Parts: sequence; structure tokens; C-alpha cells
Amino acid sequence: MKILVAVVAILAAARAVPTNTPRFVCYYDSNSYTRESQARMLPNDLEPALSFCTHLVYGYAGVHPDTYKMVPLNENLDVDRSHANYRTITNFKSKYPNLKVLLSVGGDADNEEIQKYNLLLESAQARTSFVNSGVLLAEQHGFDGVDIAWQFARIKPKKIRSSWGSFWHGVKKTFGTTPVDEKESEHREGFTALVREFKQALSLKPNMQLSLTVLPNVNASIYYDVPSIINLVDFINLNAFDFYNAERNPKEADYAAPIYTPQNRNPLLNVDAAVSYWKQNHAPLNKIVIGISTKARTWKLDEDSEIAGVPPIHTDGPGEAGPYTKMDGILSYPEVCAKLIEPKHQKGMRPNLRKVTDPSKRFGTYAFRLPDNGEGGIWVSYEDSDTAGEKAGYAKSKNLGGVSISDLSMDDFRGLCSGEKYPILRAAKYRL
Ligand SMILES: *[C@@H]1O[C@H](CO)[C@@H](O)[C@H](O)[C@H]1NC(C)=O
Repeated sequence: MKILVAVVAILAAARAVPTNTPRFVCYYDSNSYTRESQARMLPNDLEPALSFCTHLVYGYAGVHPDTYKMVPLNENLDVDRSHANYRTITNFKSKYPNLKVLLSVGGDADNEEIQKYNLLLESAQARTSFVNSGVLLAEQHGFDGVDIAWQFARIKPKKIRSSWGSFWHGVKKTFGTTPVDEKESEHREGFTALVREFKQALSLKPNMQLSLTVLPNVNASIYYDVPSIINLVDFINLNAFDFYNAERNPKEADYAAPIYTPQNRNPLLNVDAAVSYWKQNHAPLNKIVIGISTKARTWKLDEDSEIAGVPPIHTDGPGEAGPYTKMDGILSYPEVCAKLIEPKHQKGMRPNLRKVTDPSKRFGTYAFRLPDNGEGGIWVSYEDSDTAGEKAGYAKSKNLGGVSISDLSMDDFRGLCSGEKYPILRAAKYRL
């Protein structure tokens, strides 16, 4: 008996030995297929990235609000014969045999009747329906597993500065006290059960992986029971970005994804704090992957904005949509870099944005242009190749399991900025 125990212990220890190759997880947002012009990304545009990626995560599948089955969010693109994009993407494995292709569900792409994400967790029957359909969907289209990017309730946005100008000082008792989700503990338990059940179903199939993505502004300490779930998953990806954006904080702009806490800010809203929660709960470091966002966050500056441009800064809602991606408050990396380049001095052209780098390498880069007669003011928090490299360097120095790029379509996949395709991805890979 003692020998058996010893053997089991040795086997367990052997399995726990960290692998040295860090993960490089590449998210593919299939909505990019339907964008226009320069922003339209077709499967072949992925190729220059794929030799760098250990995982390619297809975003996103959703949940059917009546049956709770996992379903393609865009049947016409994803599975119908004409496009069959699921198949096209998983077929890349024949050219890149080490690539694992996962199907991700949720990811903030599934916006119809969002309450279903809570209801599903409350019902064992709904979970079974979700798990069985999900395993089948992934298997039938040649995926190597599933990534669960669950759409939990979000942390309530808070002001950085109160109206009388003082900065954040600890927890402000006066607001943010009403819980967004009244059944937090039920959803936490339901999610743990869901992960367990998913793992069980996947383990009946050969070589199927399971990963979790913690979406921006989901409070992991509420919903993720680390000791109960960490051994069931291959890795967890922390999308520790978008702490501030114009949707959540229309009147105030700040660094969207700092590695460490800038002065006088909530100490929980940064990459290092997100990692700490998993560390403190004894997640093996080599399972923790940190997300790098290629999506710049923009705000509009007005006449009340502080002219120094230093965050936190007063703003007036989301910045103007990009010419190609066409989403308010968001620009792709190539759309940002086009604004940094001195425009030819033509009549009516706005001056370029002033880029402000961060010598401390802790908070990130921003760029801005003050309004001229009330027009054209913008403040942008974004990741470039320098800051992406620093995040990868952070992951490496902390012995984490790797980094992820969210997502490929917002990086400069055409090489419009400097002639090199995927500059953010390359810089991160180089430093990992
Ligand atoms: C997350 O929840 C914990 C309680 O579980 C709380 O202490 C913490 O302040 C929350 N984090 C944020 C950023 O609101």
C-alpha cells in the first residue's frame, strides 16, 4: 500500500513538472471576415501569424437561449457549405501540425438574451445540454478542444476622481455597493460544476483540451474557484485589459491595461493584480496566460480636458470610429499608427497625434490630440510593439505559462505601419 502511495505521488509529481515551452495563444475573431476594405481579414491572412502560435482560438460560438446548446453564432460563415470557416481554420493543422485549434464560447460576442449565461449555470439539465452539444460541435469540425470565455456580470465602473477632485482612496462606501449579480455564489458553484462536467466529457475523447478565458472586468475572485477548477483545465487566459474604456467610463480616460497600478488608482485593476489572485490560490504558474489586446481604446477630448493630456483625463464619450473597423471608441493598431504619422500638409488635414511613451514600462503608451475649435480631440490608450514586448517580458520574468494576442485581426496583419505583418504579435513572441 505504501509503495502504491509512493508510486502515485511520483507520477503526480512527474505530471506537475512545468513544460518549458511557453504558450502563445492567438485569438481569431471571425467577425473580422465581414469587415470592409483593409479591415477585412480572410483565413489566408492568418498564415503569417500561425508559425508563431501554439494555439489558435476561434471566436466565438454562443449559447442558444432556449435549448442552452452551444451553437455557431454565425451559421452562414462558420458551418454552412459555402464558407465552412470552422473547417477552413481547423484545416490549418495539416500545415502547422503543432498548432492546437480551440473553439471559444462567449467572449462578449454573444449579446442576445445575455441572462442565459447565468440561467445555464443554475440548471444541471441546461449544463448537460451545453456540454454535450459543445463537445460534439468541436469534435465534428476538427477542433482540439474548447475555450470557455464565460460572460459573467461585470465589475461596476467607478470614477477615478470624485467630483471634488480627490483621487481614489480605498473602497468608496458610497457607491458600488449594490451587487450586479444577486446570485454570485450560486453562479460560482454552477461554473465549477460546468468546468468539471466539460472536462469529464472531453476526457472521453482523445487529446481534447479545455481552457478558460477570464473576460475583462469580470471579478475572478467572485466566480473562479481556483482550487476546484485549476486541475481540470490546460490553461487559463486572463484578459486583463479594457479596465477603462469609453463604454464604461465615458467621462474619464485612463490607461486601459497597465501592468502595475499607476498612482492613486484602484490597486486591483491591472495585470499584476489579476495574476496575483490565481497565484495566491496556488494555480500552477505555467497555466497562467496573460492577454495582450490589439484593440486601442479611444475617447473624445473636449474644451474641458486637461491640456497636458496626462491620464486620468476628462473626456466626452467615445472617440470617433475608425475608417475601416467602424466601431465607436475603438481603433485597430494600423488605424492608430496611421494617426501617428505626420499627414501630408493638405488643406483640412488634422495634425497627427502626440505619442507619449512610458519610461517606467509599467502603465502603457497613449497618444492624444487636443480639440481645435471643439473638433478633432482624441485620447487613445493602446498597445504597440514596445508595450506588448514588455507584457511578454513580464510573463517570462514571472515564469507564467505564456501570453495571448486578442485578437489577430486588430494587429497590423497587412503590414501597413512599417511593412512588417503582425508587429504586436512578433514583438510579444520575441520577448517571451
Ligand atoms: C472582487 O470581489 C472581491 C470580493 O470577492 C472584492 O473584495 C474586490 O474588491 C472585487 N474587485 C473589484 C475590482 O471590484
